[in-house]
Amino acid sequence: MINFNDYYGNVVQLSFDYLPFSKNPKHVWVICKYKDQWLLTIHKKRGFEFPGGKVEPGESPDEAARREVMEETGATISSLHYLGQYKVQAKLDLIIKNIYFAEVDQLHDRDTFFETNGPILLDELPTNIRLNEKFSFIMKDKVLQESLKQIEKLSF
Ligand code: GTP
Repeated sequence: MINFNDYYGNVVQLSFDYLPFSKNPKHVWVICKYKDQWLLTIHKKRGFEFPGGKVEPGESPDEAARREVMEETGATISSLHYLGQYKVQAKLDLIIKNIYFAEVDQLHDRDTFFETNGPILLDELPTNIRLNEKFSFIMKDKVLQESLKQIEKLSF
């Protein structure tokens, strides 16, 4: 278990065990790779981030991961790997998110990308992401760094 404070000072707990905080998390976050590039979405307010969002009623977290990636980037996923879970104690809410690593096989054009301006492909993620105003706050804490280490370790 890894404990830290996020960009806004909220307490975050992160674990790469199987569903340590909730069997039915209400949020998902999906680190996407398309060929040799990272696939992110441009959130209209927050900036560049890996896609994700809320699990809808009647949907499993894995289904939500696939849907959110399609809605926010137009991508279909060839393999979806569960990585871990994190819990954020925000002012008003307790948020529990599943983290996935997804390999994307196709990018489709869409008329709308919901709250986002659609996909962006990056060869590399900047090392100074915390200082980079283009990136969303959800990319600016240890969840991303530790998840990338985990992806490398599991060598998908
Ligand atoms: P809506 O999706 O429009 O409801 O946006 P929202 O950001 O108000 O709601 P949400 O329930 O997704 O998140 C509530 C709060 O939890 C945010 O304002 C953040 O403080 C925190 N939070 C949500 N997701 C993350 C995350 O991935 N990382 C971190 N560090 N905090 C998060």
